[in-house]
Amino acid sequence: MIKKTRETFGSTFGVIAAAAGSAIGLGNIWKFPYITGEYGGAAFLVVYLIFIAAIGLPIMLAEFVVGRKGKRNAFGSFKRLVPNSWWRYIGYLGVASAFIILSYYGVVAGWALKYVVASATGILHNMSSGQILGYFREFTTSPFEPLIYQILFMFITGLVVIVGIKKGIEKYSKILMPLLLVIIIILDIRAVTLPGAGEGLKFLFYPDFSKLTSEGVLQALGHAFFSLSLGMGVLITYGSYVKRKNNLMKTASEVTIADTLIALLAGIAILPAVFAFGVEPGAGPGLVFATLPNVFQQMTGGMVFSVMFFVLLSIAALTSSISILEVAVAYFSEELKMKRKLATIMATILATLLGIICSLSFGILGDYKLFGKNFFDLLDFIAANVLMPLGGMFIALFVGWVFGKRRTKNELEYGGHINKLLLNGLIFLLRYVAPIAILIVFLNGIGFFEIVKNIWFKCNG
Ligand code: PHE
Repeated sequence: MIKKTRETFGSTFGVIAAAAGSAIGLGNIWKFPYITGEYGGAAFLVVYLIFIAAIGLPIMLAEFVVGRKGKRNAFGSFKRLVPNSWWRYIGYLGVASAFIILSYYGVVAGWALKYVVASATGILHNMSSGQILGYFREFTTSPFEPLIYQILFMFITGLVVIVGIKKGIEKYSKILMPLLLVIIIILDIRAVTLPGAGEGLKFLFYPDFSKLTSEGVLQALGHAFFSLSLGMGVLITYGSYVKRKNNLMKTASEVTIADTLIALLAGIAILPAVFAFGVEPGAGPGLVFATLPNVFQQMTGGMVFSVMFFVLLSIAALTSSISILEVAVAYFSEELKMKRKLATIMATILATLLGIICSLSFGILGDYKLFGKNFFDLLDFIAANVLMPLGGMFIALFVGWVFGKRRTKNELEYGGHINKLLLNGLIFLLRYVAPIAILIVFLNGIGFFEIVKNIWFKCNG
């Protein structure tokens, strides 16, 4: 049986800290700069920001509403709100996404751990920009070393989840995320004053829409979901731990703003440096690791900052990875009635094993490709650009049409009055804008319309 009283977050700030801790992670600091570099800079950023505001924020609210009302994990909340309906299967999508994301997330978090060690030994401090890139390549393509760090990170993730919600999550993210913000701002100041940084700022803020591709638009959408931890039940699960008196609208807005701000600040630290040191903006997943050590070299006390930065990056990754693992664990323990500890150990091992294949796809498994992507990129694509937007679409449809306006209003008003216009706007976005936009961007991104057009032209001569 499920325990009568579920754990709740101790304070309002605890909710924000935990949800922001989930949202802010490698997505902001590692992924955002490199996909912005890959998909055209400012134009990509504009599209991303539109998706965050018009689709991300409403869906975040929808997840909080479902979770707090349903009081269960992603699967169980739907089951409880609409018994005997197929909506609960959205929960399966979430559990599948959780495993996939956790697997490659652990790999990149392992890289961050490795860079803590590398920074502390000072080895990066005397390298040229080419050597720094070489160092990253050599490390990620070697068969064993990355696995050690990945396994270590996954072990810590599992351990924190076993310790429990409040103690595990709330305590750490409260102090450390603001500290990360401070370090990024210091990095920003150094990066934008580097000779040649202007080119990078132009790249980041001066849009050239001719550079935007349909795959880029899909990436922007997928990343809005990935970065805000949406569409897979993390925030349904967290919402279920939120007390009634908490104002969900305020919490969701604050988390969205904090997440977007950190991504932008990370972009301002990295892209100017990319141009200043002649790194290729489309260099892919290694971009941050190949760029930032150059910036630290140019700072007084750079070595200390470098260690602190990679420690905090690892912790930011940890507060995200525990939230991902929590989705799987809550499902196994509440729905399949498995012991929490056993569920955590099993889920961690499974995700680690899948992650090992991801890690090896940078080296010895690099030749195995599907749709031109290695295993790592493929899993990232499936989770962020397919499963999460799809999950988000269903959650939007559920709250917009099934849960409905009246109940949403009630749920949002526990923490304070909600303006009528705002409520109507939210429901409109959830009912129409989010689902239709997701469908179009998705079909366009996978080339569906191109195929239809070709068939049409063939048939009509
Ligand atoms: N939002 C996290 C990040 O940006 C990643 C994440 C994805 C966390 C999905 C939870 C769920 O790093």
